[in-house]
Amino acid sequence: MSDNISVVILAAGKGTRLSLDVPKPLAPLHNKTLLDYVLKSSHSIGRIHLITGHQKELVENHISKNWSDSKIEFVHQKEQLGTGHAVRTYFDAIKEADSYKYTIIACADTPLLTEEIFSKLIEEVSGKKAVCATFEESNPFGYGRIKRAEKGFTIVEEKDATDEEREITEVNSGLYIFETSYLKEHIYGLDDNNKSGEFYLTDTFKKDANVTPLKFEDKNCFLGVNDLYQLSVVERKLKNRRIKFLLSNGVRVIDPSHTYVYTENIGKGSVLYPNSYIDEESKIGQNVTIEMGCTIKNSVIEDGAYIKAHSYFTDAIVRKDASVGPMAQLRPGSEIGIGSKVGNFVEVKNSKLGEKVGLSHLSYVGDAEIGDKTNIGCGFITCNYDGANKHKTIIGSESFIGSDCQMIAPVEIGSKSYVGSGSTINQNVPDGAFAIARERQVTKENMAKKFIKTKKK
Ligand code: UD1
Ligand code: MG
Repeated sequence: MSDNISVVILAAGKGTRLSLDVPKPLAPLHNKTLLDYVLKSSHSIGRIHLITGHQKELVENHISKNWSDSKIEFVHQKEQLGTGHAVRTYFDAIKEADSYKYTIIACADTPLLTEEIFSKLIEEVSGKKAVCATFEESNPFGYGRIKRAEKGFTIVEEKDATDEEREITEVNSGLYIFETSYLKEHIYGLDDNNKSGEFYLTDTFKKDANVTPLKFEDKNCFLGVNDLYQLSVVERKLKNRRIKFLLSNGVRVIDPSHTYVYTENIGKGSVLYPNSYIDEESKIGQNVTIEMGCTIKNSVIEDGAYIKAHSYFTDAIVRKDASVGPMAQLRPGSEIGIGSKVGNFVEVKNSKLGEKVGLSHLSYVGDAEIGDKTNIGCGFITCNYDGANKHKTIIGSESFIGSDCQMIAPVEIGSKSYVGSGSTINQNVPDGAFAIARERQVTKENMAKKFIKTKKK
């Protein structure tokens, strides 16, 4: 982070056209907000100053919850009198604003900006007073148009443009870097004599001044979000950007248009089938297969693991070469050991499975520890909750638990022990022991007819 640069993020607007209950900076963009993306790409660039206005408490709460370790300073713009007024409010409020050689201005509603774009602007401003990021837009409606001059340039807003000016296709992205002294000199001279009656930041760019537009080829990075349609476009672009990155890193994505993956942490040789959702916080190793329709949130999946269709993970770890699913749920705190197998219709919560554990069908494992090479039969249940508290089930290594057993926790089963099928276990079982807890079978010859009922016609 440079001590030389202040980044001012304009986030006071309401975002009326989004029709959401939250102010625009907090509009959801998969499991984050619009504002988080701008902060992510700019927070290593310089000291952040956030201009808040509409529902500022909500924005400030969001920042203190999610960005507590980054120093972000708030400036409250009570009335939104335009982008120029927002920057003037910043200079009024922040005493040390003059001490930064450069001031970058960015908008909270452009989530696809990258660190690279910020770096290019910083490079370009050397020896100049200001640089404005621009791009070509064949349908420039709504954007400020760039009027290049022999020296310097001006920006004319849509509402104020003549028909001829509206034909200009080079547009203002809303991202700028200024030498702070230049910005301050001009910000107090702005007026609101325009069709919107607003103080335009864009009026600080002048003909004959040492200011320049810097045109970027990839206009997608500057896409703004003003309505729900644009939000969906940005969401798709963000996803496509990640998928392109993954493809170029040796990850096979079978159907990119139907894969919802936001993490960049997926190793070479892994394969993603369609309709999977993997969030930004998840980490997937090499040669992992994730079949159709899996949801993976904040989880780690190590090399060679195989996740079968329609499984759902939250805050879970799947170690090397393990396989999970189909239709398995790993809830927070689940750790599936190396080479273990968790099969269909199994739910695991806050439990650690050792290496090569078999837990293949129709089970609930909560608050448990299961040792290496233990095999659990079908229909196993840890009865971990007594209505008030949760209790632990501990099972050692190389044990065998027959099908349809329940463990009434707290309970401990030793290593190399054997629990007969259909047992309800409520007492500890030591190492090497056999335990069975079910009624003995009674069989009466020829007695079935007493119980078989025939329907009256
Ligand atoms: C602005 C630019 C336009 C550019 C476009 C790119 C001006 C005058 N025009 O227009 O040239 O092409 O961005 O998207 O700057 N905000 C405040 N306080 C205010 C007003 C706005 O914080 O008083 C914030 C908004 O929340 C938003 C940003 O500033 O994040 C931009 O404001 P907006 O009204 O969206 O400007 P545009 O009309 O899009
Ligand atoms: Mg805008």
